[in-house]
Amino acid sequence: TRHLLGIKDLNRNDIEKIFETADNFKTVLNRPIKKVPSLRDVTIANIFFENSTRTRLSFELAEKRLSADVVNFAASSSSVSKGETLIDTVNNILAMKVDMVVMRHPYAGAGIFLSKHVNAQIVNAGDGAHEHPTQALLDAFSIRERYGDVEGKKVVIVGDILHSRVALSNILCLKQLGAEVMVCGPTTLIPKYIGSLGVKVEHDLRKALNWCDVANMLRIQLERQDIKYFPSLREYTMMFGLNKQILDSLDKEITVMHPGPINRGVEITSDVADSKQSIILDQVENGVAIRMAVLYLLAGQQV
Ligand code: CP
Repeated sequence: TRHLLGIKDLNRNDIEKIFETADNFKTVLNRPIKKVPSLRDVTIANIFFENSTRTRLSFELAEKRLSADVVNFAASSSSVSKGETLIDTVNNILAMKVDMVVMRHPYAGAGIFLSKHVNAQIVNAGDGAHEHPTQALLDAFSIRERYGDVEGKKVVIVGDILHSRVALSNILCLKQLGAEVMVCGPTTLIPKYIGSLGVKVEHDLRKALNWCDVANMLRIQLERQDIKYFPSLREYTMMFGLNKQILDSLDKEITVMHPGPINRGVEITSDVADSKQSIILDQVENGVAIRMAVLYLLAGQQV
């Protein structure tokens, strides 16, 4: 494919190819000179219609480490506020001889829509509650780094599964790689179709944590909820928040992940987020190597 729109378009070989390429780029990133000439003369536009810290900066760093030319577009400071459409916006950016578009958008399917209407390679940096493919790739890559392999690992995703593009992309990616996946959260935040994805469902946090090797803790996405869901944040923390007392009471030492941004004291306490069992900042570090790999392979259209 020319694009990376979702994990659903990738098979196991594609994912393993991305990981092997990311291994090489991670070696490069640990050298004193981190830059390679691979994407010289490729121009990439990062267009963000929704806020981001990690994804936006790590795409930009990945592009710069690959020697691409980079332009950044934030919808809030653009002519979108004057009524310009998504297709017009992107076609105007492309008229300036841009080759690739990395896009985050609040609407599910925005990247798929764009890929059908403009002549550029599209990378999905998160589309509403649908997919966040590079996040899932960097998460699975971080599990592989911790354990040597993802196959057979037991991963529980805890929290707001219903509104989470990270959850859907993680489930698809981990299943492709042979992991066992469970979701854990209140019934109101777990979609009815989840069983069809071949994942287990658990509503008791302790049981879920005692089952798993890895717990990926998600935040409650209040910005995607038009009505007030049960439970309240206070109730959510009491039932599904991960704290040190729970972590230390488990039968084995599990690995704790979080895609960020963290709401400290809600889904995870600081002493867990900052503990040696947490690989949260390793995930962020790996994001640059994974995005370098994705852009490099797309530029060669090998994915
Ligand atoms: N994990 C993630 O997508 O973070 P940002 O929203 O800050 O990019």
